Amino acid sequence: MSELTPLTGEALAEIAACADLAALDAVRVRWLGKKGRITEQLKHSGKRVASEGTETVVALQAARQAIEGALAERRAAIGAAALAREIEAGRLDVTLPGRGEEPGGLHPVTLARLRIETLFRRAGFDVASGPEIEDDFHNFGALNIPANHPARAMHDTFYFADGRLLRTHTSPVQIRALRERGAPLAVIAPGRVYRCDSDITHSPMFHQLEGLAVGEGVSFANMKAVLHGFMEAFFERDLAMRLRPSYFPFTEPSAEVDMSCVFCQGQGCRVCKHSGWLELAGCGMVHPHVLEACGVDPERYTGYAFGAGIDRLAMLRYGGNDLRLFFENDQRFLRQFRAFRA
Ligand code: DAH
Repeated sequence: MSELTPLTGEALAEIAACADLAALDAVRVRWLGKKGRITEQLKHSGKRVASEGTETVVALQAARQAIEGALAERRAAIGAAALAREIEAGRLDVTLPGRGEEPGGLHPVTLARLRIETLFRRAGFDVASGPEIEDDFHNFGALNIPANHPARAMHDTFYFADGRLLRTHTSPVQIRALRERGAPLAVIAPGRVYRCDSDITHSPMFHQLEGLAVGEGVSFANMKAVLHGFMEAFFERDLAMRLRPSYFPFTEPSAEVDMSCVFCQGQGCRVCKHSGWLELAGCGMVHPHVLEACGVDPERYTGYAFGAGIDRLAMLRYGGNDLRLFFENDQRFLRQFRAFRA
């Protein structure tokens, strides 16, 4: 009996020193397990009571109870501490102000495209599209650019091994739309095009706007009016326009469209290279070969077509002076257009 009190004290001290449940279980095994120190002493209780009376056995049972109680208490304490640590780690201060959500915005090229589509729809044009992976027929042949035609050199084409290619312009959509729908027809086709060159002013992927109107009696004057009206609506100001003779295989006659510079009103500045004019599009009357390739009778129908760079239109309307800004997706640049509406 006399040696029991320090023994219990030793067990309780060990329990108090336990930092986790594994250590606590080891202590339990050491004292109360099958071969535990208290268990061993209780093994021969019957004999002991017979020879020594009940005192020692009762004391041993009391010691076991005290150790069990201490174990349970310690187990609860360790559990509570773990839970408290977990809560602390995942603490959420609900009184902090929210981070807020920034509204998204449209890319300036998308803004320009949507604006173009709206304006041409208003003028009676449909919006058409075609594949970016094209074949030779649609991208070249049907547009009166046969194999070995020198105009092919103007297009640095990305070819696939099977002879297909990434379209070098949106003009193949002229072919697809006219073959599918026939005349009369008025469509625009904005879209991505690809050319195998890249420097400060050229990106291997850029955006073009194609236009095509075919019908009986469609004239060069109609084209001039539509283009001039579009440019003034797009830039929301009065602009002068001029046409310079040019050459494209798929139009005859062909012209280059210039607008008075939107920055200096034709006075001359860095953007227009002091000419007062900005080159904005190529255009012309659809070549009879193109109409024929689309199954349209060139004796009955005439048409005009035009092509312009959407990235350039976007740059002129929304600002920015480096084409690369339009393709790098730097948030600091794009954020500035957040509030813009097409
Ligand atoms: N397809 C021409 C190019 O990429 C642009 C163009 C010029 C399109 C005149 C036309 C046009 O429809 O009539 O360089």
